[in-house]
Amino acid sequence: MSAVKFQAEVVENVQIAPDICRMAVRWPSGEGLPAPRAGQFFMLRAWGFDETPMLSRPISVHDYDPSGGTLSFLYQVKGEGTQKLRAVQQGQTLSLTGPCGNGFDVPAIVRAAGGRNGAVAVVGGGIGTAPLLLLCRELAAAGCKPELYCGFRDEPYGLEEFLPCCAAISVATDSGAVGYHGLVTEILHPEQFAMVLTCGPMVMMRGVARLCAGVNVPCLASLERKMACGLGACLGCTCHTKVGAKTVCKDGPVFDAQEVFG
Ligand code: FES
Repeated sequence: MSAVKFQAEVVENVQIAPDICRMAVRWPSGEGLPAPRAGQFFMLRAWGFDETPMLSRPISVHDYDPSGGTLSFLYQVKGEGTQKLRAVQQGQTLSLTGPCGNGFDVPAIVRAAGGRNGAVAVVGGGIGTAPLLLLCRELAAAGCKPELYCGFRDEPYGLEEFLPCCAAISVATDSGAVGYHGLVTEILHPEQFAMVLTCGPMVMMRGVARLCAGVNVPCLASLERKMACGLGACLGCTCHTKVGAKTVCKDGPVFDAQEVFG
């Protein structure tokens, strides 16, 4: 189903780490909105269409709780748009367009992994771990708890929420503050898994894709790009793949890693 534009009330907007905030909005149930799936994103706007920045901000779904009626996002405050998102108060209204993009096909991943706990590795880097929470929840609900590998510069954030839906969690930090002192790709052994799913900095995902290709393990990567429309109309987010030009916002953001990095 295609993306829908709607307004939603902000029920939480808190800082959880330096420059990292979590925002939750009330999901307008009963209005026929398509439920978001892991890996999809919304275009968020907390300012008028005649105000700067001109473009809405694409932010991945961090979590979706249909029973509690909330949709949440984790975002890094690093520019005018995200500073304006940070200033939104509980009770205020946000403009959203979505869900956008293809997202992860969880049933297909579960089938490919044989529906076993520990058969899938999920690899995140920094704020790229944000979309992986809903992915891990959906995999766990399908009886396929993944092993999470995540890399951070320094102190990790938001990992406690992953505990109930992961078979294991391994952390690597550039500073050595927590876990392995080094890159997350140095502790990942893709040959132990049926499939690897990744989201984070391009250099990290390229490394993950290379490791997977070396042992013939399928890998899906969720890409991030600057986006204007988020709907496949402006072609501003085009990326070059082995099978031609694709838009990250509509054809992706989830791609076969070998199509993008191979
Ligand atoms: Fe416009 Fe992707 S942002 S086509």
